[in-house]
Amino acid sequence: MFERLFGWFRGPSVKIQGVDKLPEGESKKISIGDPMAGGTEIILCRRDGKLFAVDVLCPHEGGRIVAGPLHEGRYVMCPLHNYKFDPANGRAIGAACKNARTYRVVARGGDCEVFV
Ligand code: FES
Repeated sequence: MFERLFGWFRGPSVKIQGVDKLPEGESKKISIGDPMAGGTEIILCRRDGKLFAVDVLCPHEGGRIVAGPLHEGRYVMCPLHNYKFDPANGRAIGAACKNARTYRVVARGGDCEVFV
């Protein structure tokens, strides 16, 4: 009952399986729906043992944040102008830029739910 009630406030979620295989300090790109039909792509990453999700769309000039090892073990990066973003809150590091969009992630065993 409460889970259903809270679900109304959290918005829709997408279950992603097998995230326990994502190593610390790494990230990977995941498509949620068809990006050509209103879906999105996220960068799911693990830092300090927690999972974070960042939209691939860079808030600077529309580049794409890329997956791979986290820069300095902490940040996702857009290679177009080498801006770094904190995946925990989307803040640009060392640059004046809007925040990258982040999504709430709830880990459940070896899977997770991303609230989009
Ligand atoms: S467009 Fe991403 S850093 Fe400039």
